Amino acid sequence: MVLLPMLVASRRLLLLSGSMLLALGLRLLVSSPGLGGTQALPASEQTSNAEQTSNAEQSSNAELSFSPAELRRIAKLSPLPPAPLDTTNRFDGNPRAERLGHRLFWDTRFSSNGEVACATCHDPQKEFSDGLPVGEAIGTGTRRTPSLWNVSQGDWFFHDGRADSLWAQALQPMENPIEMGSDRLAVLHVIAGDASLRQAFEALAGPLPELSEGQRFPAHARPDPLEPQSAHHRAWVGMSEADRFAVNRRFSDVGKLIAAFERNLVKTNSPFDRFAASLQGRSNDTLSDAPNNPPKDAPQETTEQSLQVQPSTEYPPSAQRGLRLFLGKGRCHLCHNGPNLSDGEFHALGLGPRGGGMPTDPGRYGGLPPLEVSEFRANGAFSDDPEGDRSQLATGLSRDPANWGEFKTPSLRNVLNRGPYMHAGQMESLGDVLRFYSTLEGAAPLHQHQEQVLVAREFSDAEMADLEAFLGSLEGVPLEGYWGAPPESPRPPDAPR
Ligand code: HEC
Ligand code: HEC
Repeated sequence: MVLLPMLVASRRLLLLSGSMLLALGLRLLVSSPGLGGTQALPASEQTSNAEQTSNAEQSSNAELSFSPAELRRIAKLSPLPPAPLDTTNRFDGNPRAERLGHRLFWDTRFSSNGEVACATCHDPQKEFSDGLPVGEAIGTGTRRTPSLWNVSQGDWFFHDGRADSLWAQALQPMENPIEMGSDRLAVLHVIAGDASLRQAFEALAGPLPELSEGQRFPAHARPDPLEPQSAHHRAWVGMSEADRFAVNRRFSDVGKLIAAFERNLVKTNSPFDRFAASLQGRSNDTLSDAPNNPPKDAPQETTEQSLQVQPSTEYPPSAQRGLRLFLGKGRCHLCHNGPNLSDGEFHALGLGPRGGGMPTDPGRYGGLPPLEVSEFRANGAFSDDPEGDRSQLATGLSRDPANWGEFKTPSLRNVLNRGPYMHAGQMESLGDVLRFYSTLEGAAPLHQHQEQVLVAREFSDAEMADLEAFLGSLEGVPLEGYWGAPPESPRPPDAPR
């Protein structure tokens, strides 16, 4: 059964109760005045004459009814509950750690040229991405910089899933020669050399190793098994095992502090969420008031708070039709499912590199071996819960040729303004993406699994406009707080330059 893997993967869906939809076949009345007067409609809502005719029945009275099956599917997509705490990261959910992580995220000293921070590529002004087809910093990469909105929701990180926790992810760009180009020893030396940062770090993480003993702790060192002759690798293997362990422990803490900060990069309560809430008879307020970090023992979701049905009067009919297509003819929800509109798993669309040609990026197939040997796995020595749920995810994973060319299903929340799209920025606009799903033009057949799930949908122009209106309605509101702005003092005054 070809759909099984993606269904099994959606364990987070169990948080939601589909049975909330008591109002079976609920008929939604959207009054035209409410639509016309108050809200500017997305461009795709300004439909052509031809489209208006083809959708005349629905759009004339702006009324759409959803079947019980559709309502059940909609209930799986909203609301977005707070991400479960990552028990492999002892700082997750700790406000002091989050603030320190905020500082680290903006600190350029963790790069080899002193100019690149995480925020350089994950820019809050650009949806925590960079607007470029592929990441650029010290060098130019081959993959798109993903937006970090709602990133804590994931099980796997990177397009190829080569990290199984958010904290392990954060360690890689610092040591990646084309991203920040630094190394774990240099990172710890920066912290040790900045009195205020050191104090804040040690208060949370514990003491740094005796870095001042230059014989034991070189200025630069990191493992690089692919280049065993490199100076940084030789410096690393020249250290004692105990000292390497001590460095890895505190280096992993740097990643954990950043990951704790990233939990706050939440953007939800979109027009679609408000519409889904109205369908489910929940008050919109339960969404906007939902705490992001409830205490551990508080209920993780708000769906149980059943209030009076208030049909949304502000959700454009075009988006409603797009929603129906998303769940029906488009079969988009087969992969973009669950409250984050991603199954969190990997699929092959058969996309070649930007500019055309056969696929060259192995995707998940290439991501599994580095995960397997990573010292920072969720079930490894630096995990704070090596037996927990997250730790079990990667246990026993094996690589299959069918993984070749698979990429992580991106969340479709907040997708509107974060193009170009796909793992290498191959598509400029959402229109391009929808034309792709309509024709599958340019998709290379990779293997049987891909062909069975992915079929050209042959959308009409009107249907693509409706789907685009639906995707546009997934644009949420950022969590309030200081998260989106640089810290007041990313480089404290007493810090060495
Ligand atoms: C050169 C620009 C650049 C810098 C600097 C950078 N990133 Fe990234 N980031 C990327 C790219 C490109 C990817 C995707 C790489 C891949 O999948 O192989 C990525 C992936 C990620 C992901 C995975 C998101 C997901 O949905 O799987 C996270 C989280 C992330 N970066 C956080 C960070 C943090 C934290 C830092 C700083 C320690 C950082 N990044 C520095 C470009 C950058
Ligand atoms: C077989 C699973 C699958 C199905 C079905 C599917 N998608 Fe996707 N979608 C993916 C994957 C995987 C990617 C990322 C591919 C990549 O990066 O190369 C993606 C990427 C996207 C993107 C780009 C997001 C970004 O940030 O780059 C959009 C938009 C999108 N899909 C919308 C849709 C819509 C609309 C439908 C239905 C018409 C649909 N998808 C059906 C798996 C699927």
